[in-house]
Amino acid sequence: MKLSGNLGTAIVTGASSGIGKLFADRLAARGYDLVLVARREDRLRSIAADLQSRFSVRADVLVADLSEPAGVASVSDRISSDSSVSMLVNNAGYSTIKTLAQTPDEVIANMIALNITALTTLSKAAIVRFTERGAGTVVNVGSGAGFAPFPGIGIPVYASTKAYVFLLTKYLQNEVDGTGVSVRLVLPGAVVSEGWEVAGGAELEPLPDAIVMTTEDCVDAVMSGLDQGEPVIAPSLADLTLLEAYDSASGTLLQSMFSAQPATRYGLGK
Ligand SMILES: NC(=O)c1ccc[n+]([C@@H]2O[C@H](COP(=O)([O-])OP(=O)(O)OC[C@H]3O[C@@H](n4cnc5c(N)ncnc54)[C@H](OP(=O)(O)O)[C@@H]3O)[C@@H](O)[C@H]2O)c1
Repeated sequence: MKLSGNLGTAIVTGASSGIGKLFADRLAARGYDLVLVARREDRLRSIAADLQSRFSVRADVLVADLSEPAGVASVSDRISSDSSVSMLVNNAGYSTIKTLAQTPDEVIANMIALNITALTTLSKAAIVRFTERGAGTVVNVGSGAGFAPFPGIGIPVYASTKAYVFLLTKYLQNEVDGTGVSVRLVLPGAVVSEGWEVAGGAELEPLPDAIVMTTEDCVDAVMSGLDQGEPVIAPSLADLTLLEAYDSASGTLLQSMFSAQPATRYGLGK
């Protein structure tokens, strides 16, 4: 049953599986109409039909390869032209568990195109549109892996794309301050999804159960974080003071990085 008719439309990228599919489900349950974006049309159509029948919302399918400029443009156009769009969930992304030396050049380019370029371009389209209207929400999915090199796991390109998502989203939160637009950063830890197959397939050692969250718990925690107004939503992070300490230390470091004088340890004697 549709709960509300005026929440508008949420565009969810990467809605054909995993976290994005659950986002679509939970947003539809709240009464959002949806635009489901991914490459696998058959899956999107079946998810759209299911959401429409269970929640009486409208669920459109937008098939797009977001590693290609044309695919990004098709979603951007929808954001700009559809005045009902009130939320963008930038969720599509993937990883490969390889050292940089092992990562094929085309995978490097493709992953950066999807995880960085598409997310950035779609964030811009949404912020421009939402700011004109003075309302709207952008949700960017980063990763806990974007904070530091993960011991024993080679994900240099993936982790670095997620570090980018972290900093970009922090900038965007400043950019929209006072406009009525909300930009949220989601930082999942390890979550059960097909993404792990995409990242490495069957040869991967399974992670310990104790550190892997279900997709349902992850997205339900994110929905709660959205409701609570958290700018940074980290479903697995029990101790929020760690994030606060990180923010504080990075702000102090930023202020300390700029001086005309070389640091004394370099021995330039000025
Ligand atoms: N699972 C985790 O442990 C974890 C942890 C931290 C962050 N995350 C992040 O969470 C997000 C969702 O990941 P997931 O774990 O749910 O993985 P997933 O189940 O593999 O889902 C990835 C989604 O992205 C879509 N996608 C991939 N390439 C695309 C492209 N070129 N164009 C358009 N859509 C594309 C896929 O659909 P099609 O294949 O149909 O295009 C799929 O719907 C990602 O940004 C990921 O980095 C995941």
